[in-house]
Amino acid sequence: MSRRDGTPDESSSWRDPFAVAPPLDPAVLARLASELYAAVPAATSANASPTAPLPEPQWSAPVLPAAAPAAATPAGTGYYFLDEALAPARVASPPWSEAPRLEAREPLPEIVPDLGLAPGHFDVLTVRRDFPILEERVHGRPVVWLDNAATTQKPRSVIERLARFYAHENSNIHRAAHALAARATNAYEAARDKVRRFLNASSPREIVFVRGATEAINLVAQSWGRRQLVAGDEIVITWLEHHSNIVPWQQLATEKGARLRIAPIDDDGQVLLEQYEQLLGPRTQLVALTHVSNALGSVTPVREMVAMAHRHGARVLVDGAQAVAHLPVDVQSLDADFYAFSGHKVFGPTGIGVLYGKADLLDAMPPWQGGGNMIADVTFERTVYQAAPARFEAGTGNIADAVGLGAALDYLAGVGLENVARHEHALLVHATDALRGVPGLRLIGTAREKAGVLSFVLDGFRPEDVGAALDREGIAVRAGHHCAQPALRRFGLESTVRPSLALYNNCDDIDALVAALGRLVAVRQESRNAKLG
Ligand code: ALA
Repeated sequence: MSRRDGTPDESSSWRDPFAVAPPLDPAVLARLASELYAAVPAATSANASPTAPLPEPQWSAPVLPAAAPAAATPAGTGYYFLDEALAPARVASPPWSEAPRLEAREPLPEIVPDLGLAPGHFDVLTVRRDFPILEERVHGRPVVWLDNAATTQKPRSVIERLARFYAHENSNIHRAAHALAARATNAYEAARDKVRRFLNASSPREIVFVRGATEAINLVAQSWGRRQLVAGDEIVITWLEHHSNIVPWQQLATEKGARLRIAPIDDDGQVLLEQYEQLLGPRTQLVALTHVSNALGSVTPVREMVAMAHRHGARVLVDGAQAVAHLPVDVQSLDADFYAFSGHKVFGPTGIGVLYGKADLLDAMPPWQGGGNMIADVTFERTVYQAAPARFEAGTGNIADAVGLGAALDYLAGVGLENVARHEHALLVHATDALRGVPGLRLIGTAREKAGVLSFVLDGFRPEDVGAALDREGIAVRAGHHCAQPALRRFGLESTVRPSLALYNNCDDIDALVAALGRLVAVRQESRNAKLG
């Protein structure tokens, strides 16, 4: 096998990420799965017995035959999102046994087959070696990390950079005139400049360090929004938004007597541009939209939507939390007024994130928190604030993790975001095709422009049970509402299973997922057959 750029394959186990596998034949998949099942001693699950009645409707988490012996699903899983998802639904939804049967094969989602990016060198095996956690075993099996939309893993360079900071540079910044303070300040401000380059902002003054995308959005709502909005004004968001790009605007709208308007999406999860434009008008102060949907993977037409909003005099905030690790972002070219992202979703530490804002906007915005670092002068009568970004960074910030984020962006620059986008897109095409071969699986979110998020439901299974069963095989996915309940309810669903990709995933990860799902379906089918026979 040779790579598309003509370079020879140096590793026999190297899988060509550009090669799109032919669709799996569901019959073959089911046979393979049931052979695998037969090879394992009948074990833990009542539905594994050919004579046992099908345990509907008291369905418990299915146990995959090849998985390690597993306890029943505990009352508390230890994972807030699973616990939330397993808790009694607050909104009435049909009992799962009444859920409509799904077609075994859905029409082919029309993902753009080729992003038209220039080919560059990318070796996923080399990349994988940079991430120590990928060597980890869970439940006795090598971890398959497909929960990248929730958080990404960290390369060794980030882990080592954090250790180096604490071992050699640790100090508070700005305030103390000594050598370590200078080192810490230099490292912190160097990280800010790395973010500037990463986003192609015009100045480091446009980069505010925050805790994450959620805090960035809340900062804009509380500072810019509270000053700007009056009763009757409108904020436009889309049906795709994460709760963190809904709730702060809802709170602001309630406080100000403003109106929240929602741009609809079609059945593939794409924003309906005509309807979006009809929502824009003289009362629109702000459009807040996601760049990539965390629940469906849709890539929104941000540049076009920003331009439309600007034609109506509105400002635009882009939630880039799910975009920055997967595609190159240029805030000047997008002409976004604000752009928010979280460090932990771009291979950096948790607890650090970024708000980009155009300099003139940030300079005109009042601070939203008061304290040290953000002031130029304080008397008991009045305070003079620093200019941006310091005026938005009250108190001692997350210095080490900002430095760690800088290391993550260096790493990503070294790999090349165009390479990442091309690799993940090829994996997405492969995964979409392979998942379509699983009988009863329906993909939710089939936008033409899509990032590596593969939400699905599986006929006859609760998403949470699929997630628990995959976990027993060492495969990490998120199952639940993904903090995007309106987006899922648009499809009549309360939850989905959501594998999500990053640069270190490969075809083996996808194949492990698909094989595990095949075994799950085969167990189910055997139970049904036993019941009928
Ligand atoms: N926003 C994160 C997700 O989509 C937590 O899973």
